[in-house]
Amino acid sequence: MCGIFGYVGKNNSAPTIVLDGLKRLEYRGYDSWGVAVVPEGKKESVIVVKKKTGKIGDASVSELPKGTLAFGHTRWATHGGVTDINAHPHLDCTKTIAVIHNGIVENHEELRATLIKKGHTFVSETDTEVIVHLVEEYLKHTKPAPRDAEPAFSKAVQQAFNDLDGLNAIILINTTSHEMVAARNGSPLVVGFGDGENFLASDPAALLPHTKQVHYLEDDEMAIVRDGSIHIFNARTGERVRPRKQLLTWSEKDAEKGKFPYFMLKEMHEQPGLLSEIASESPEQAKALAREIRESDRVYAIGAGTSGNAARAATYLFSDIANYLLNWGIASEFNHRLPIISESSMLIALSQSGETMDLLEVVKKAKDRGIKILSIVNVVGSSLWRMADLTMPIGAGPEKGVASTKAFTSKIAHLLLIAYAMKGDVASGQKLIIRAARSAQKVINSSAVDQIKNLAKALKDVRHMYVIGKGISFPVALECALKIKEISYIHAEGIAAGELKHGPLALVTKGTQCIVIAPNDETYHDVMGSAMELKARGAHVIGLSFKNDEAFDDFIPVMDAGEATIIPNVIVAQLLAYYLTIERGFDPDMPRNLAKSVTVK
Ligand code: M6R
Repeated sequence: MCGIFGYVGKNNSAPTIVLDGLKRLEYRGYDSWGVAVVPEGKKESVIVVKKKTGKIGDASVSELPKGTLAFGHTRWATHGGVTDINAHPHLDCTKTIAVIHNGIVENHEELRATLIKKGHTFVSETDTEVIVHLVEEYLKHTKPAPRDAEPAFSKAVQQAFNDLDGLNAIILINTTSHEMVAARNGSPLVVGFGDGENFLASDPAALLPHTKQVHYLEDDEMAIVRDGSIHIFNARTGERVRPRKQLLTWSEKDAEKGKFPYFMLKEMHEQPGLLSEIASESPEQAKALAREIRESDRVYAIGAGTSGNAARAATYLFSDIANYLLNWGIASEFNHRLPIISESSMLIALSQSGETMDLLEVVKKAKDRGIKILSIVNVVGSSLWRMADLTMPIGAGPEKGVASTKAFTSKIAHLLLIAYAMKGDVASGQKLIIRAARSAQKVINSSAVDQIKNLAKALKDVRHMYVIGKGISFPVALECALKIKEISYIHAEGIAAGELKHGPLALVTKGTQCIVIAPNDETYHDVMGSAMELKARGAHVIGLSFKNDEAFDDFIPVMDAGEATIIPNVIVAQLLAYYLTIERGFDPDMPRNLAKSVTVK
């Protein structure tokens, strides 16, 4: 989940380059941050580190010495509290080796005990610190290498990496060889190819100002990154690996906030445009995937969080539009069902990042069993993308707000197109997405936003909210509740309208805040019945609907877009969550305890 950025080159402002890279990566973890540099021109001196708890904000590293080799880290704490000392980078006893790390070293306790017996002194509570002492220990036992022999430092990193249990990405530097040595198993790492300078990062978006040529490290791959060369090899066998260079398609501007105060607001505003683009793309891929789905025994859509809500929504889209029963599951729960799924089935893996560990774990196991994988993923080149047999890019551009917005609505648009392709009428799907884009534009640009802002002002101090939907609006209710709770910290629950009387209605008393999603579909009368039941018990009912009704105390109009109305409805939910967060004085881009890519289990 942590952000990693490393630089080696000729520019002696490496610490500043690294700090800028980290600022672009802060959404991956923001408990603390740190930068380490090998000072220029002092071969035998120690590595200098600056690290601090809290967000990177407008931090500076001007007090760090100049140097052409530096790396840094933004942390999402796993082992060890959020303190300056536990922040990365970590140093060995001699302060001449430094490490940054993403993942969990599962055998850190036994490694630590062995290293302490050998005389190493630990200063932090982290699992990470064992890595740097382990490399130090291996180096002690390595004779000075003759010219042309295998470099001692990378050999020691390789040995240490092979001792680690768990899923880890590591980078180490030292004061004597002008290089970064990186290794990956599970957690993502990408190498960036520059001109006389090279880079490492946990996320390709951070590399955009420097290079678009990248190599994604696969599991067990290591890289020795120097200013003039990049060597990639297998950490277990030592065999050389040819770089698989890929070109990043995003622009630097796509990954910036521009005129918006927060990434989330910018990303919400991009949605109408993205939807129009999806509707105007060639439908051939949707048609090909529709055929693949029809040819599979059974098809399961899975994802985590917002992507899990998209998977659940897909089941309604496929049954309503294509008369096809699509199974769905939450990624972290799906492992238990894999053994009973036939090899001729297909798994549709949905993900913005393509790095969500819960999802990757299922996909790996399914793939080993020969189950076909279709990934619908936003980050082209990500682990999920590379693992899949079939891929469909979401095409939403970089999404940096921790709360997923445009990736969700773009996923839904693609799924809707596939469902229409299965029906043999993809053109109608395209028309609906255009309608959804118009409806979304109306919500984002009209007086609806002022209404949402006013509503947020009125609701900012409530402690609980319930969101009710039926049919495809049930996943909308879940997504609305997820958005509200993750960024505004108000407890919100998504409830299937039909379930109210089976328990949740007991929570409703005078003034309970309830959002009712009532689109112009076959669920309308049932859901309005629920709205009346809520009102009869004193609830304050906020309606999201194509028309106003006496049951609604507040009403947000959402223009009907047929089966695609899920899209503008979710956008209203995103906006409400956003403005509630602003009213409550929190940062919507970096909610507490969360990070953008959940790369640990
Ligand atoms: O990158 P992914 O789509 O695989 O991420 C899955 C979830 O971690 C993500 O959707 C999370 O729930 C968001 N914070 C929700 O806004």
